[in-house]
Amino acid sequence: MTISYKSPGTLEATRFEKIHSVIFKESKEASKIVANEIADLIRKKQKENKNCVLGLATGSSPISVYNELVRMHNDEGLSFSNVISYNLDEYFPMSKVDLQSYVYFMKIHLFDHIDIKKENIHIPDGSIASDKINKYCASYEKSISDSGGIDFQLLGIGRTGHIGFNEPGSNYDSSTRLVHLDYLTRNDARKAFVGIENVPTTAITMGIRTIRKSKRVVLMAWGNNKSSVVSKAIEGEIDSNIPASFLQKHKNATFVLDQSASEELTRVKTPWRTGQANWNEELKAKAVAWLCEKTNKSVLNLTESDYNENNLSELLLEKSYYDLNLDFYKRIFRSITGWPGGKPNSDDNGRPERSKPSKKRVLIFSPHPDDDVISMGGTFDRLVSQGHEVHVVYQTSGNIAVSNSDVLKFLEVINSTFPDCKCKNEELIGLLRNSTEIINNTRVREIAATIREKESLAATRFIGIPDSNVHFLKLPFYETGGIKKSTPTVLDLKLTTEIISKIKPHQIYAAGDLADPHGTHKVCLDILFDAIEKLKNESFMKDCWVWLYRGAWHEWPIHEIDMAVPMSPFQVLRKRKAIFYHQTQKDNVMFQGDDNREFWVRTEDRNRAIAKKFRDIGMSDYSAIETFKRYHF
Ligand code: F6R
Repeated sequence: MTISYKSPGTLEATRFEKIHSVIFKESKEASKIVANEIADLIRKKQKENKNCVLGLATGSSPISVYNELVRMHNDEGLSFSNVISYNLDEYFPMSKVDLQSYVYFMKIHLFDHIDIKKENIHIPDGSIASDKINKYCASYEKSISDSGGIDFQLLGIGRTGHIGFNEPGSNYDSSTRLVHLDYLTRNDARKAFVGIENVPTTAITMGIRTIRKSKRVVLMAWGNNKSSVVSKAIEGEIDSNIPASFLQKHKNATFVLDQSASEELTRVKTPWRTGQANWNEELKAKAVAWLCEKTNKSVLNLTESDYNENNLSELLLEKSYYDLNLDFYKRIFRSITGWPGGKPNSDDNGRPERSKPSKKRVLIFSPHPDDDVISMGGTFDRLVSQGHEVHVVYQTSGNIAVSNSDVLKFLEVINSTFPDCKCKNEELIGLLRNSTEIINNTRVREIAATIREKESLAATRFIGIPDSNVHFLKLPFYETGGIKKSTPTVLDLKLTTEIISKIKPHQIYAAGDLADPHGTHKVCLDILFDAIEKLKNESFMKDCWVWLYRGAWHEWPIHEIDMAVPMSPFQVLRKRKAIFYHQTQKDNVMFQGDDNREFWVRTEDRNRAIAKKFRDIGMSDYSAIETFKRYHF
C-alpha cells in the first residue's frame, strides 16, 4: 500500500468500509497526491530500467491529475519515455479525429504535452469494423499482458457505478469487449455531444477482469453527485449492479474522494454509528436533524428512547434529551428571517444578519446570467424592497447556452424590421440555419452573450435595481467559444477583485455549488474565494459577510443552514416572473443535466421541499424558503 495518502482514519471509524478510502477537502489537493504516486512509480521503474505500464481514464475526474503530471514534466523534468499506456475505453463508433473521441481527450489533456512515445500509447480503436471487434478486443488484452500487465490503473466512477464502461450487470470476469451504454451514462455525456441523441450507444471497454488484474488501482470521485454510488461501492455488498463494488476484492485498491463525494459514507453521514464521533455543535445538530427524519418526528417530540434506540445515547451523557431538542429548535428557529439584510433597530441576538448598517451595500455574484433569480430571487427581491443598495455581478456571459435558433431569431427580426440595416448578417444567418452544433464563431457568441445580458437586465429591472448596479464580468476562462473552458488566470481574479473593491459590499452572496467540481459554478466560486483571500485585510472586508446560496439542483442540509428566508405565495410568483425574463433558458434548455424540469419548476419544488422540512421538524408552515450558509473567511 502506498504511503503518500493520509491515514483513512481509525479502524473503528472505517469499519463499514470494505475498500481503503481516503477523503480530501478538495479534489485539487487529492489530484496532486494521485499524480505524485504515478510520478514516483514512473521514476522508480526508470531507476530499475523498466517500463511503467499505466491504465488511464478519461472524463472530468482525472483532468487535474493530468494537469499536475504535465506540470511535473515541465517544471521537474519528469519523463514519460518509459511509460506504456492503455486507456480504459472509447466510444464506438468513433473516429480518432472526432473532438468527442477519447483519443482527442488524451491528446489535449496529456499526450501532447509530455514525452511519451507515440508507439507506447494504446486507446481502444473506435473506428474498427464491427466484424473485427472481437478479434481486436482480444488483441488489446494480449497487448496488455505482453507489456507485463498494468502497474497502475487510474479510474473514475460513473453514476451507474461503472468503471471503464463496465455498466451494471457486467461480469466479474469480463475482458475487453463491446458494451451497450447505460442511459444515465449517455445522459451524463450529453453536454460534450450537445444532446443525448448524439451520444453513441456503444463503446469498447476493458473488462472488470482486465482492471482487476492491475497491480494497483486508484479510483477518484469528486462531487456530491457521486456520493451515493461511492458509498454503495465501498460499504455495500459486492454486486454486479454496482460494478465498482468488485474492487472490494482487489488487494491494492484505493478510493480517493473529495469531501462532497464522501458525504454518504457512514463515517461522514452518521459518524455516531461508528462509535467515533467527534461531537461539536455542528455534528450534534446534524445528528438531531437525522433523528427527526429517521423517526418522522418534529424535534420537540423526540424522546429519550429515540436517542437511545438510534445510536445517539452518547449525546445524552452531556445533556438531557430535552435540552438537546431545545438547542436544535432554537438553532433552526434563529436561522429564519424575513430580513436578509438585517432587521433595522432590532436586537442582533437570535438573528442571522446584523441590523447595522441598516442600509447595506449588497453584491450578488451570479455565475451565469440567471442564477441570481433562480437561486435567490425571493431574497434578492426582499433586499431591494427593504431599501438596500443591491448590485448583481454576472460572472460569465453564459453565451454557450443560447441555442442557434434563438440567435437566428434575433438576427432575422433585425433584418426584417430594418431592411436598410447595413449589417445584414446574411452569412451568419446561413451558418446558423445549417448547423445544429454549437458554433464557435466570435460574432455568434457575442450576439448570444448580448441576448443574455438583455434578458438579465429585463429581470433586474423587474426586481427594481438600476442598470448601473448590474455588472457583466465576462470572465475570460469561460470565453473559449466552446463547451470546454480554460483554466482561470490572474485576469479572472483581477476582474473579480476589482468589482468587490469598487462596491465595498457589506454582504456578498455567491453560488456555493460543489456538486460538479469542474463546472462553471465551482470555478467561479474558487475565483471568488481567491479574491476574498486577497482582499480580506482591507478595512471594508472586516464589515463584509459572505452568504452562499445553492443552485437549481441541490439544497443545503438543514443543520448547515445559517439563514432561511421564507417566501409568501405572492413572492414565489414574483420570483417565477423574474426567471421567465430569461427566455432563452426556458422550454428547450440546452444544459439541463438529467432533470428535465425547467429551472423555475425545479427551484419552486426545491424551495417548497425545504419549507416542508422546516415544517416537519416543527417550525412554522411557510410556502417556500430560500436558504444560505455563511462562509467565514
Ligand atoms: C472514462 C471512463 C469512465 C469515467 C466515469 C466517470 O474513461 O471509463 O468510467 O471514469 O464515467 O466520469 P467523470 O470523471 O467524467 O465523472
